[in-house]
Amino acid sequence: MRIAIIGAGNVGGTLGRRWAQAGHDILFGARDPGSTKTREIVASCGGQARATSPAEAAARADVVVLAVGWHVVQPVVESMGDLAGKIIIDCTNPLDENLQLIHGHHSSGGEMIADIAVGARVVKAFNTVTWEVMANPDFGDEPATMFYCGGDSASAEVVESLIRDIGMEPCNVGGLEMCRYLEPLAMIWILEFRIRRQSGDYGFRLLKRTSAEAKTE
Ligand SMILES: NC(=O)c1ccc[n+]([C@@H]2O[C@H](COP(=O)([O-])OP(=O)(O)OC[C@H]3O[C@@H](n4cnc5c(N)ncnc54)[C@H](OP(=O)(O)O)[C@@H]3O)[C@@H](O)[C@H]2O)c1
Repeated sequence: MRIAIIGAGNVGGTLGRRWAQAGHDILFGARDPGSTKTREIVASCGGQARATSPAEAAARADVVVLAVGWHVVQPVVESMGDLAGKIIIDCTNPLDENLQLIHGHHSSGGEMIADIAVGARVVKAFNTVTWEVMANPDFGDEPATMFYCGGDSASAEVVESLIRDIGMEPCNVGGLEMCRYLEPLAMIWILEFRIRRQSGDYGFRLLKRTSAEAKTE
């Protein structure tokens, strides 16, 4: 699959490397495709990647991954032109400069992106774990869970397989309006683990009992 990754930073670079290892073609959409930093990230993908503008990357890909800071999301999405029909994977968290969530309850970042990218199939994913967990999702024998929401059944299938490609366990939590809960969920790792405990090595895992195990008496 050809995947456009808009933003070649911590999240974009990590996902690009992981998906390149799984055999996908990666097109990074960068504001300076020739910068040293972008060239190093492209090189780390081992020949399976190149960098161009966000608009060209999006036009040539099946899936567009948004991995930029919230403050540039609107201009970046608008700069990509017509995204109708594309699957957009939104990894962003709508934070201000003090790392506070600026949307919620009645709307969300994911829904705002869907409003801008008219006709695109927006799926929220990869916003509730750190890039370190995307790089290595294994905790002992158990992979971390990747919650996602939005899209139609075909796009959900694509996103599930991309989540599995990086070794995580997908969990569909519903329609795009569920971003109103996935974005606040990310605040637990951002404030408690990233900031207070200063570590990216915490992940969420969903536990499920079988009906036999659920019988306690
Ligand atoms: N860090 C995490 O563990 C984590 C986990 C889950 C979700 N997220 C979310 O994912 C998003 C990215 O986070 P990050 O940690 O990867 O940030 P980051 O390392 O700062 O990367 C952001 C990237 O966006 C690029 N960018 C900025 N303006 C751009 C533009 N106009 N066009 C194209 N690219 C542009 C930056 O390029 P330059 O180098 O040129 O500035 C940079 O490469 C954020 O919304 C964050 O909340 C982060």
